[in-house]
Amino acid sequence: MDLSAKIGRLELKNPILTGSGTFGYGIEFEEYFDIGLLGGIVVKGLSLRYKEGNPPPRICETPCGLLNSIGLQNVGIEKFYEEKLPLLRGKDCRIILNILGDDFLEYEKICEFIAGRGEVDGVEVNVSCPNVKKGGIHISKSPDAIFSLTEKLRKILDDIPLLIKLSPNVSDIVPFVEAVKDGGADGVTLSNTYLGIAIDLDTLSPKLSQIKGGLSGPAIKPISQRIVFESASSVDIPIVASGGILNFRDALEYIALGAVAVEIGTANFLNPESPLKILKGMENYLKERGHTSVRDFTGIFLKKNGINFPLLEDGDDI
Ligand SMILES: Cc1cc2nc3c(=O)[nH]c(=O)nc-3n(C[C@H](O)[C@H](O)[C@H](O)COP(=O)(O)O)c2cc1C
Repeated sequence: MDLSAKIGRLELKNPILTGSGTFGYGIEFEEYFDIGLLGGIVVKGLSLRYKEGNPPPRICETPCGLLNSIGLQNVGIEKFYEEKLPLLRGKDCRIILNILGDDFLEYEKICEFIAGRGEVDGVEVNVSCPNVKKGGIHISKSPDAIFSLTEKLRKILDDIPLLIKLSPNVSDIVPFVEAVKDGGADGVTLSNTYLGIAIDLDTLSPKLSQIKGGLSGPAIKPISQRIVFESASSVDIPIVASGGILNFRDALEYIALGAVAVEIGTANFLNPESPLKILKGMENYLKERGHTSVRDFTGIFLKKNGINFPLLEDGDDI
């Protein structure tokens, strides 16, 4: 079974990645399984400097979903290179750094640092965090800003694969995905969490210190699948899908809708072995159905229903 996937210049041995912020720096999960078996690890969001994140409470369960307002707590890019990356070296999977800046300049500085040091397989740019006051969320509201940022970071990163992770909190995703493509990214990650609120009726207090947070988990899967569908059927760019994937069927649904790879997020809190279970389940399902490659399955729903799938047009190799 050929499970390999290609996101522009980023080649993965299989399409299973971890969702940033739900899998720590990767190493923490080594006690559960060999993380080198995955296609890649997308590490916790990194900023230029250490960030403490928001005060608690910053996570709460809702029916079918998780609401979080972590606020990008992280060690900062320099310390990541000094203390965390050495522990990941030698793992047989791709290491992708998820980054977040307060403004354009900070994104550029982080990418300059990464371009100078190398040693990683890709960068995923979070322009979609709902939980910080400055930064991503504002850029994520304008296709022009997304285009300019992507173009700038593309130049700085040179040959390092670049993914842009978009916010789903927009009325039409297509112009944003077009901006990512026109800016020269290798792929687009669709998508981050949805803004939500949870309150305690008896005390009339918010369940999160910041009142608003980002909703993830099974509740968001149908909405994120609609976003992947709209993008895959309109824009010729590899999609990494993220949103409510709990099992291999969820993952394959996204691939059938046109994604080339998937990220496992909230599922890691339910079972830390979720990414591995999903990988194995996917392989068995494809084998049982007589497929020899996961790429046969990419966009299969679109093809079956006569819907455009620009990524596959002109005999493109995915
Ligand atoms: C606790 C938590 C922290 C997260 N932190 C980040 C982050 O630092 N950067 C980022 O791009 N996405 C972050 N996300 C979003 C996830 O990577 C993922 O895109 C989203 O949760 C949807 O997928 P899921 O429903 O499978 O969790 C976070 C999500 C959760 C639940």
